[in-house]
Amino acid sequence: MKELVGLAAAPILAIAVFCTSAVADPIKDRQALMKDQGKTVGSITPIIKGEKPFDAALVISALKHLNEDAQKIDLVTLFPAGTDQGGETTASPKIWEDSAGFEAALTKYKADAAKAAAAEPKDIESFKVVFNQVTENCGACHKAFRIKKD
Ligand code: HEC
Repeated sequence: MKELVGLAAAPILAIAVFCTSAVADPIKDRQALMKDQGKTVGSITPIIKGEKPFDAALVISALKHLNEDAQKIDLVTLFPAGTDQGGETTASPKIWEDSAGFEAALTKYKADAAKAAAAEPKDIESFKVVFNQVTENCGACHKAFRIKKD
């Protein structure tokens, strides 16, 4: 007896994977944002130190730019789980162990940055107040959520 073996032709799925755009790199993206913030703060620090005269236009535009950067920092998109590994990063595992704490630090920073931008300081005294308020967030968050690598 002849057995007929019906062979179902398995559909061949040709999956073409196109990578037309650069793959998102949250580590690089967040570092670029942080670097830009460093640059912005660096541009107005000489005024705080009294090395340069107070310049309202420069100060106000710097504070607004800092605020724009600040509002872009996001735990989900820029700090996805696992990205304390697999790259040149100083992000501490504490960001994910204590994500509520990190979110709180981020929320406070964003609020202070928005306040500094809205303040539009017109003299060195009022500038100092908002500058100190916003920049204390940098050190506080770095201390808690960044590791020093040697
Ligand atoms: C809510 C937390 C948080 C705040 C607020 C914050 N940072 Fe950061 N910052 C980080 C973390 C985390 C890293 C490490 C990122 C990495 O290496 O992946 C970092 C890294 C940096 C770096 C190094 C970037 C690089 O190229 O490796 C600079 C510069 C920096 N921050 C500047 C600032 C300045 C200036 C401020 C305030 C105006 C600030 N940061 C506020 C969390 C914060």
